[in-house]
Amino acid sequence: MLDNQKILVCVTGGIAVYKSVSLVSKLTQAGAQVKVIMTKSAMEFVTPLTFQAISRNDVFFDTFDEKDSRVIAHIDLADWADLVIVAPATANVISKLANGIADDMVTTTLLASTSEIWIAPAMNVHMYENKAIIRNIKSLDQDGYKFIEPSEGYLACGYVGKGRLEEPEKIVNLISNHFERNTYFPLKGKKVVVTAGPTRERIDPVRYVSNFSSGKMGYAMAQAAQALGAETVLVSGPVELDKPIGVTVIEVESADEMLQAVLSHYEDASIVIKSAAVADYRPKEVQLHKMKKKTGDSQIELERTTDILQVLGSKKTSQLLIGFAAETQDSIRYGKEKIERKNLDYIIVNDVTDPDGGFGNDSNVVTLLSSKGLNRPFPAMTKKKLANELLETICIEESDSLNDR
Ligand code: CTP
Repeated sequence: MLDNQKILVCVTGGIAVYKSVSLVSKLTQAGAQVKVIMTKSAMEFVTPLTFQAISRNDVFFDTFDEKDSRVIAHIDLADWADLVIVAPATANVISKLANGIADDMVTTTLLASTSEIWIAPAMNVHMYENKAIIRNIKSLDQDGYKFIEPSEGYLACGYVGKGRLEEPEKIVNLISNHFERNTYFPLKGKKVVVTAGPTRERIDPVRYVSNFSSGKMGYAMAQAAQALGAETVLVSGPVELDKPIGVTVIEVESADEMLQAVLSHYEDASIVIKSAAVADYRPKEVQLHKMKKKTGDSQIELERTTDILQVLGSKKTSQLLIGFAAETQDSIRYGKEKIERKNLDYIIVNDVTDPDGGFGNDSNVVTLLSSKGLNRPFPAMTKKKLANELLETICIEESDSLNDR
Protein backbone atom coordinates (compact mmCIF):
# COMPACT_ATOMS: atom_id res chain seq x y z
CA MET A 1 0.00 0.00 0.00
CA LEU A 2 2.78 2.46 0.92
CA ASP A 3 5.61 0.68 -0.84
CA ASN A 4 8.86 2.48 -0.17
CA GLN A 5 7.25 5.84 0.57
CA LYS A 6 9.61 7.69 2.91
CA ILE A 7 7.75 8.97 5.94
CA LEU A 8 9.35 10.96 8.74
CA VAL A 9 7.41 10.80 12.00
CA CYS A 10 8.17 13.58 14.52
CA VAL A 11 7.06 12.56 17.99
CA THR A 12 6.57 15.28 20.61
CA GLY A 13 5.83 14.87 24.30
CA GLY A 14 2.29 13.96 25.25
CA ILE A 15 0.55 10.91 26.59
CA ALA A 16 -0.57 10.09 23.03
CA VAL A 17 3.01 9.02 22.22
CA TYR A 18 1.83 5.44 22.74
CA LYS A 19 -0.43 5.88 19.70
CA SER A 20 2.56 7.00 17.63
CA VAL A 21 4.17 3.65 18.37
CA SER A 22 1.14 2.01 16.78
CA LEU A 23 1.21 4.52 13.89
CA VAL A 24 4.87 3.77 13.11
CA SER A 25 4.15 0.05 13.32
CA LYS A 26 1.21 0.27 10.90
CA LEU A 27 3.15 2.46 8.46
CA THR A 28 6.05 0.01 8.47
CA GLN A 29 3.68 -2.94 7.97
CA ALA A 30 2.12 -1.10 5.00
CA GLY A 31 5.53 -1.05 3.32
CA ALA A 32 6.66 2.51 4.11
CA GLN A 33 10.20 3.38 5.12
CA VAL A 34 9.77 5.19 8.43
CA LYS A 35 12.26 7.29 10.37
CA VAL A 36 11.47 8.80 13.75
CA ILE A 37 12.63 11.95 15.53
CA MET A 38 11.68 12.47 19.18
CA THR A 39 11.74 15.46 21.48
CA LYS A 40 13.16 15.14 24.99
CA SER A 41 9.65 15.25 26.44
CA ALA A 42 8.48 12.45 24.14
CA MET A 43 11.27 10.29 25.56
CA GLU A 44 9.72 10.70 29.03
CA PHE A 45 6.82 8.55 27.74
CA VAL A 46 8.47 5.99 25.45
CA THR A 47 12.13 5.22 24.82
CA PRO A 48 13.78 5.65 21.40
CA LEU A 49 14.52 1.93 21.45
CA THR A 50 10.81 1.16 21.00
CA PHE A 51 10.61 3.25 17.82
CA GLN A 52 13.96 1.93 16.61
CA ALA A 53 12.79 -1.69 16.92
CA ILE A 54 9.47 -0.99 15.21
CA SER A 55 10.77 1.21 12.39
CA ARG A 56 14.00 -0.79 12.00
CA ASN A 57 15.80 2.53 11.65
CA ASP A 58 17.92 4.76 13.92
CA VAL A 59 15.88 7.18 16.01
CA PHE A 60 17.02 10.81 16.18
CA PHE A 61 16.60 13.12 19.18
CA ASP A 62 19.77 15.16 19.60
CA THR A 63 20.65 17.82 16.99
CA PHE A 64 24.32 17.55 17.90
CA ASP A 65 24.58 13.77 17.85
CA GLU A 66 25.61 13.29 14.22
CA LYS A 67 25.39 9.56 13.56
CA ASP A 68 26.83 9.84 10.02
CA SER A 69 29.74 12.26 9.58
CA ARG A 70 29.07 12.63 5.83
CA VAL A 71 25.79 14.47 6.36
CA ILE A 72 24.11 16.94 8.73
CA ALA A 73 21.33 14.82 10.22
CA HIS A 74 18.47 17.34 10.39
CA ILE A 75 19.04 18.50 6.79
CA ASP A 76 19.51 14.94 5.56
CA LEU A 77 16.29 13.75 7.23
CA ALA A 78 14.37 16.75 5.91
CA ASP A 79 15.58 16.05 2.35
CA TRP A 80 14.94 12.31 2.67
CA ALA A 81 11.24 12.47 3.56
CA ASP A 82 8.39 12.30 1.02
CA LEU A 83 6.02 13.25 3.82
CA VAL A 84 6.58 14.53 7.35
CA ILE A 85 4.02 13.96 10.07
CA VAL A 86 4.11 15.41 13.58
CA ALA A 87 2.14 13.01 15.80
CA PRO A 88 1.31 13.73 18.48
CA ALA A 89 1.83 17.48 18.03
CA THR A 90 1.80 19.29 21.36
CA ALA A 91 0.71 22.90 21.89
CA ASN A 92 4.40 23.66 22.33
CA VAL A 93 5.62 22.33 18.96
CA ILE A 94 2.67 23.96 17.14
CA SER A 95 3.51 27.33 18.68
CA LYS A 96 7.24 27.00 18.00
CA LEU A 97 6.62 26.07 14.37
CA ALA A 98 4.15 28.93 13.89
CA ASN A 99 6.91 31.31 14.99
CA GLY A 100 9.80 29.73 13.14
CA ILE A 101 11.58 28.59 16.30
CA ALA A 102 14.12 25.79 15.81
CA ASP A 103 15.68 24.73 19.11
CA ASP A 104 15.75 20.94 18.97
CA MET A 105 16.03 18.06 16.49
CA VAL A 106 12.29 18.04 15.66
CA THR A 107 11.90 21.78 15.02
CA THR A 108 15.20 22.22 13.11
CA THR A 109 14.20 19.36 10.80
CA LEU A 110 10.70 20.75 10.32
CA LEU A 111 12.05 24.16 9.33
CA ALA A 112 14.50 22.55 6.89
CA SER A 113 11.86 20.40 5.22
CA THR A 114 10.39 21.24 1.83
CA SER A 115 8.06 18.22 1.82
CA GLU A 116 4.44 18.37 2.83
CA ILE A 117 4.14 18.51 6.64
CA TRP A 118 1.09 17.11 8.43
CA ILE A 119 0.35 17.99 12.03
CA ALA A 120 -1.78 15.76 14.25
CA PRO A 121 -2.45 17.72 17.47
CA ALA A 122 -3.17 16.05 20.80
CA MET A 123 -3.72 18.00 24.00
CA ASN A 124 -6.22 18.91 26.68
CA VAL A 125 -9.48 20.35 25.29
CA HIS A 126 -8.96 23.75 26.94
CA MET A 127 -5.41 23.97 25.61
CA TYR A 128 -6.74 23.18 22.12
CA GLU A 129 -9.30 25.97 22.47
CA ASN A 130 -6.78 28.45 23.84
CA LYS A 131 -6.70 31.62 21.71
CA ALA A 132 -2.93 31.46 21.17
CA ILE A 133 -3.18 27.88 19.91
CA ILE A 134 -6.12 28.71 17.63
CA ARG A 135 -4.10 31.64 16.27
CA ASN A 136 -0.98 29.52 15.72
CA ILE A 137 -2.94 26.71 14.01
CA LYS A 138 -4.57 29.27 11.72
CA SER A 139 -1.26 30.78 10.79
CA LEU A 140 0.30 27.35 10.09
CA ASP A 141 -2.74 26.48 7.99
CA GLN A 142 -2.17 29.64 5.95
CA ASP A 143 1.51 28.70 5.58
CA GLY A 144 0.43 25.43 3.92
CA TYR A 145 0.77 22.93 6.79
CA LYS A 146 -1.99 20.31 6.84
CA PHE A 147 -3.80 19.38 10.03
CA ILE A 148 -5.28 16.07 11.08
CA GLU A 149 -7.90 17.32 13.49
CA PRO A 150 -7.97 15.64 16.89
CA SER A 151 -11.05 13.58 17.65
CA GLU A 152 -13.44 13.96 20.55
CA GLY A 153 -13.54 11.58 23.46
CA TYR A 154 -12.15 10.74 26.86
CA LEU A 155 -8.87 12.61 27.44
CA ALA A 156 -6.05 11.42 29.71
CA CYS A 157 -6.55 14.49 31.91
CA GLY A 158 -10.05 13.28 32.77
CA TYR A 159 -11.92 15.72 30.53
CA VAL A 160 -14.12 14.61 27.69
CA GLY A 161 -13.74 16.75 24.56
CA LYS A 162 -11.72 17.48 21.47
CA GLY A 163 -8.02 16.78 21.86
CA ARG A 164 -7.41 13.07 21.30
CA LEU A 165 -4.83 12.18 18.69
CA GLU A 166 -6.67 10.79 15.68
CA GLU A 167 -6.61 6.97 15.60
CA PRO A 168 -3.49 5.52 13.90
CA GLU A 169 -5.64 3.48 11.43
CA LYS A 170 -7.28 6.69 10.20
CA ILE A 171 -3.95 8.49 9.88
CA VAL A 172 -2.55 5.58 7.84
CA ASN A 173 -5.63 5.74 5.56
CA LEU A 174 -5.16 9.47 5.03
CA ILE A 175 -1.49 8.92 4.20
CA SER A 176 -2.35 6.12 1.71
CA ASN A 177 -4.97 8.33 0.03
CA HIS A 178 -2.43 11.14 -0.20
CA PHE A 179 0.11 8.98 -2.02
CA GLU A 180 -2.58 7.46 -4.25
CA ARG A 181 -3.80 10.91 -5.18
CA ASN A 182 -0.28 11.90 -6.20
CA THR A 183 -0.42 9.19 -8.83
CA TYR A 184 -4.02 10.02 -9.71
CA PHE A 185 -4.25 11.72 -13.10
CA PRO A 186 -7.93 11.46 -14.13
CA LEU A 187 -7.48 14.22 -16.73
CA LYS A 188 -4.49 12.65 -18.49
CA GLY A 189 -4.98 12.89 -22.26
CA LYS A 190 -7.72 15.54 -21.84
CA LYS A 191 -7.56 19.14 -22.94
CA VAL A 192 -8.93 21.64 -20.42
CA VAL A 193 -9.52 25.27 -21.35
CA VAL A 194 -9.84 27.74 -18.47
CA THR A 195 -10.64 31.45 -18.67
CA ALA A 196 -9.65 33.84 -15.91
CA GLY A 197 -9.53 37.46 -14.82
CA PRO A 198 -11.53 40.46 -15.96
CA THR A 199 -11.88 41.76 -19.50
CA ARG A 200 -11.21 45.38 -20.41
CA GLU A 201 -13.50 47.16 -22.83
CA ARG A 202 -11.85 50.24 -24.25
CA ILE A 203 -13.48 53.67 -24.18
CA ASP A 204 -10.54 55.49 -25.77
CA PRO A 205 -6.76 54.85 -25.88
CA VAL A 206 -6.36 55.59 -22.15
CA ARG A 207 -9.63 54.45 -20.54
CA TYR A 208 -11.63 51.26 -20.22
CA VAL A 209 -14.63 49.60 -18.54
CA SER A 210 -13.73 46.59 -16.35
CA ASN A 211 -14.33 44.90 -12.99
CA PHE A 212 -12.46 43.90 -9.83
CA SER A 213 -11.72 40.26 -10.76
CA SER A 214 -8.17 39.31 -9.69
CA GLY A 215 -8.00 36.08 -11.73
CA LYS A 216 -6.87 34.09 -8.65
CA MET A 217 -9.69 31.52 -8.86
CA GLY A 218 -9.21 30.90 -12.59
CA TYR A 219 -5.44 30.59 -12.24
CA ALA A 220 -5.96 28.10 -9.39
CA MET A 221 -8.41 26.12 -11.57
CA ALA A 222 -5.84 25.98 -14.40
CA GLN A 223 -3.09 24.81 -12.05
CA ALA A 224 -5.41 22.18 -10.54
CA ALA A 225 -6.37 20.88 -14.02
CA GLN A 226 -2.68 20.66 -14.92
CA ALA A 227 -1.91 18.79 -11.68
CA LEU A 228 -4.65 16.27 -12.49
CA GLY A 229 -2.86 15.49 -15.76
CA ALA A 230 -4.68 17.72 -18.28
CA GLU A 231 -3.12 19.57 -21.18
CA THR A 232 -4.25 22.99 -19.95
CA VAL A 233 -4.86 26.21 -21.89
CA LEU A 234 -5.51 29.34 -19.83
CA VAL A 235 -7.14 32.28 -21.61
CA SER A 236 -6.42 35.18 -19.31
CA GLY A 237 -7.63 38.75 -19.12
CA PRO A 238 -5.24 41.37 -17.69
CA VAL A 239 -4.13 40.25 -14.20
CA GLU A 240 -1.12 40.63 -11.90
CA LEU A 241 -0.40 36.93 -11.32
CA ASP A 242 2.49 34.59 -12.08
CA LYS A 243 1.77 32.19 -14.95
CA PRO A 244 0.85 28.70 -13.68
CA ILE A 245 3.62 26.17 -14.33
CA GLY A 246 3.06 23.73 -17.21
CA VAL A 247 0.03 25.65 -18.56
CA THR A 248 -0.24 27.38 -21.97
CA VAL A 249 -1.33 30.97 -21.32
CA ILE A 250 -3.07 33.08 -23.97
CA GLU A 251 -3.34 36.73 -22.93
CA VAL A 252 -6.38 38.68 -24.09
CA GLU A 253 -7.90 42.04 -23.26
CA SER A 254 -11.52 42.31 -24.35
CA ALA A 255 -14.54 39.99 -24.24
CA ASP A 256 -14.32 39.69 -28.00
CA GLU A 257 -10.66 38.60 -27.91
CA MET A 258 -11.52 36.10 -25.17
CA LEU A 259 -14.36 34.69 -27.28
CA GLN A 260 -12.05 34.19 -30.29
CA ALA A 261 -9.30 32.56 -28.16
CA VAL A 262 -11.73 30.17 -26.46
CA LEU A 263 -13.47 29.23 -29.72
CA SER A 264 -10.13 28.38 -31.34
CA HIS A 265 -9.55 25.77 -28.60
CA TYR A 266 -13.15 24.61 -28.16
CA GLU A 267 -13.55 21.83 -30.67
CA ASP A 268 -10.96 19.43 -29.21
CA ALA A 269 -11.45 20.51 -25.57
CA SER A 270 -12.78 17.95 -23.09
CA ILE A 271 -13.58 20.48 -20.38
CA VAL A 272 -14.08 24.24 -20.50
CA ILE A 273 -14.07 26.21 -17.26
CA LYS A 274 -15.25 29.78 -17.55
CA SER A 275 -13.96 31.50 -14.42
CA ALA A 276 -13.44 34.86 -16.15
CA ALA A 277 -15.51 37.86 -15.11
CA VAL A 278 -16.35 38.92 -18.64
CA ALA A 279 -17.65 42.47 -19.03
CA ASP A 280 -21.33 42.30 -20.01
CA TYR A 281 -21.20 45.67 -21.75
CA ARG A 282 -18.69 47.61 -23.81
CA PRO A 283 -18.71 51.18 -25.14
CA LYS A 284 -20.69 51.23 -28.37
CA GLU A 285 -18.00 53.32 -29.99
CA VAL A 286 -14.30 53.23 -29.14
CA GLN A 287 -12.79 56.69 -29.56
CA LEU A 288 -9.61 56.77 -31.64
CA HIS A 289 -8.24 59.68 -29.63
CA LYS A 290 -8.32 60.51 -25.94
CA MET A 291 -11.67 62.06 -25.06
CA LYS A 292 -11.37 65.64 -23.89
CA LYS A 293 -13.39 66.82 -20.93
CA LYS A 294 -16.18 69.24 -21.57
CA THR A 295 -18.33 71.28 -19.24
CA GLY A 296 -21.36 69.46 -17.84
CA ASP A 297 -22.10 65.76 -17.56
CA SER A 298 -21.15 63.12 -20.05
CA GLN A 299 -22.61 59.80 -21.13
CA ILE A 300 -21.10 56.75 -22.72
CA GLU A 301 -23.47 54.51 -24.60
CA LEU A 302 -22.86 50.82 -23.89
CA GLU A 303 -23.74 47.75 -25.91
CA ARG A 304 -23.84 44.08 -24.90
CA THR A 305 -20.75 41.93 -25.34
CA THR A 306 -21.25 38.39 -26.57
CA ASP A 307 -22.06 35.98 -23.73
CA ILE A 308 -19.14 33.61 -24.37
CA LEU A 309 -20.53 30.87 -22.16
CA GLN A 310 -23.89 31.00 -23.87
CA VAL A 311 -22.19 30.63 -27.27
CA LEU A 312 -20.19 27.65 -25.97
CA GLY A 313 -23.37 26.11 -24.55
CA SER A 314 -25.14 26.41 -27.89
CA LYS A 315 -22.19 24.81 -29.76
CA LYS A 316 -21.59 22.08 -27.19
CA THR A 317 -20.96 18.56 -28.49
CA SER A 318 -19.05 16.34 -26.02
CA GLN A 319 -17.42 19.09 -23.94
CA LEU A 320 -18.10 19.35 -20.23
CA LEU A 321 -19.02 22.98 -19.68
CA ILE A 322 -18.41 24.59 -16.29
CA GLY A 323 -19.44 28.16 -15.53
CA PHE A 324 -19.01 30.45 -12.56
CA ALA A 325 -21.62 32.81 -11.21
CA ALA A 326 -20.82 35.83 -9.12
CA GLU A 327 -23.94 36.82 -7.22
CA THR A 328 -24.82 39.16 -4.38
CA GLN A 329 -28.19 37.60 -3.51
CA ASP A 330 -30.30 34.48 -4.21
CA SER A 331 -27.15 32.80 -5.53
CA ILE A 332 -28.49 29.20 -5.74
CA ARG A 333 -31.63 30.21 -7.63
CA TYR A 334 -29.66 32.35 -10.10
CA GLY A 335 -27.06 29.57 -10.44
CA LYS A 336 -29.69 26.98 -11.37
CA GLU A 337 -31.23 29.38 -13.82
CA LYS A 338 -27.83 29.96 -15.50
CA ILE A 339 -27.24 26.19 -15.88
CA GLU A 340 -30.48 25.99 -17.88
CA ARG A 341 -30.07 29.19 -19.86
CA LYS A 342 -26.44 28.57 -20.86
CA ASN A 343 -26.70 24.77 -21.31
CA LEU A 344 -24.02 24.08 -18.66
CA ASP A 345 -23.02 20.86 -16.92
CA TYR A 346 -21.84 22.59 -13.74
CA ILE A 347 -21.87 26.03 -12.22
CA ILE A 348 -19.76 27.20 -9.30
CA VAL A 349 -21.81 29.76 -7.46
CA ASN A 350 -19.99 32.42 -5.61
CA ASP A 351 -21.62 34.91 -3.23
CA VAL A 352 -19.26 37.85 -3.67
CA THR A 353 -20.63 39.59 -0.56
CA ASP A 354 -19.33 36.78 1.69
CA PRO A 355 -16.36 38.17 3.68
CA ASP A 356 -14.50 34.84 3.22
CA GLY A 357 -14.72 34.93 -0.56
CA GLY A 358 -15.10 37.03 -3.64
CA PHE A 359 -12.93 39.23 -5.82
CA GLY A 360 -9.30 39.67 -4.82
CA ASN A 361 -9.53 37.44 -1.73
CA ASP A 362 -7.15 34.48 -1.37
CA SER A 363 -10.02 32.36 -0.07
CA ASN A 364 -13.45 31.58 -1.41
CA VAL A 365 -16.69 29.93 -0.34
CA VAL A 366 -18.84 28.41 -3.10
CA THR A 367 -21.56 25.93 -3.97
CA LEU A 368 -21.17 23.47 -6.84
CA LEU A 369 -24.40 22.89 -8.76
CA SER A 370 -24.86 20.49 -11.65
CA SER A 371 -27.44 19.99 -14.38
CA LYS A 372 -28.11 16.59 -12.75
CA GLY A 373 -29.14 18.17 -9.45
CA LEU A 374 -25.87 18.11 -7.47
CA ASN A 375 -25.88 20.88 -4.85
CA ARG A 376 -22.66 20.73 -2.81
CA PRO A 377 -21.46 23.60 -0.62
CA PHE A 378 -17.72 24.03 -0.07
CA PRO A 379 -16.73 25.88 3.13
CA ALA A 380 -14.27 28.78 3.11
CA MET A 381 -10.79 27.68 2.04
CA THR A 382 -7.93 28.99 -0.07
CA LYS A 383 -8.72 29.34 -3.77
CA LYS A 384 -5.88 26.89 -4.55
CA LYS A 385 -7.29 24.20 -2.26
CA LEU A 386 -10.83 24.89 -3.44
CA ALA A 387 -9.83 24.57 -7.10
CA ASN A 388 -8.35 21.12 -6.39
CA GLU A 389 -11.40 19.99 -4.43
CA LEU A 390 -13.85 21.26 -7.06
CA LEU A 391 -12.04 19.56 -9.94
CA GLU A 392 -11.55 16.32 -8.01
CA THR A 393 -15.26 16.28 -7.14
CA ILE A 394 -16.18 16.85 -10.79
CA CYS A 395 -13.75 14.10 -11.92
CA ILE A 396 -15.36 11.67 -9.48
CA GLU A 397 -18.90 12.69 -10.54
CA GLU A 398 -17.93 12.32 -14.22
CA SER A 399 -15.75 9.20 -13.89
CA ASP A 400 -18.07 7.28 -16.26
CA SER A 401 -18.41 10.05 -18.83
CA LEU A 402 -14.83 11.42 -18.96
CA ASN A 403 -13.63 8.72 -21.36
CA ASP A 404 -16.11 9.86 -24.00
CA ARG A 405 -15.13 13.52 -23.82
N1 CTP B 1 -19.90 34.97 -19.07
C1 CTP B 1 -19.42 34.89 -20.37
N2 CTP B 1 -19.56 35.96 -21.21
C2 CTP B 1 -20.17 37.09 -20.81
C3 CTP B 1 -20.66 37.19 -19.47
C4 CTP B 1 -20.50 36.10 -18.64
O1 CTP B 1 -18.87 33.86 -20.76
N3 CTP B 1 -20.27 38.10 -21.64
C5 CTP B 1 -19.72 33.80 -18.20
C6 CTP B 1 -18.78 34.00 -17.04
O2 CTP B 1 -17.46 33.64 -17.42
C7 CTP B 1 -19.33 33.06 -16.00
C8 CTP B 1 -20.80 33.02 -16.30
O3 CTP B 1 -20.96 33.54 -17.61
O4 CTP B 1 -18.83 31.76 -16.14
C9 CTP B 1 -21.69 33.79 -15.37
O5 CTP B 1 -21.29 35.12 -15.28
P1 CTP B 1 -22.11 36.17 -14.42
O6 CTP B 1 -21.52 37.52 -14.65
O7 CTP B 1 -22.28 35.69 -13.02
O8 CTP B 1 -23.54 36.04 -15.05
P2 CTP B 1 -24.25 36.63 -16.29
O9 CTP B 1 -24.56 35.50 -17.19
O10 CTP B 1 -23.47 37.75 -16.87
O11 CTP B 1 -25.63 37.09 -15.67
P3 CTP B 1 -26.02 38.31 -14.74
O12 CTP B 1 -25.13 39.44 -15.13
O13 CTP B 1 -27.42 38.49 -15.06
O14 CTP B 1 -25.81 37.81 -13.33
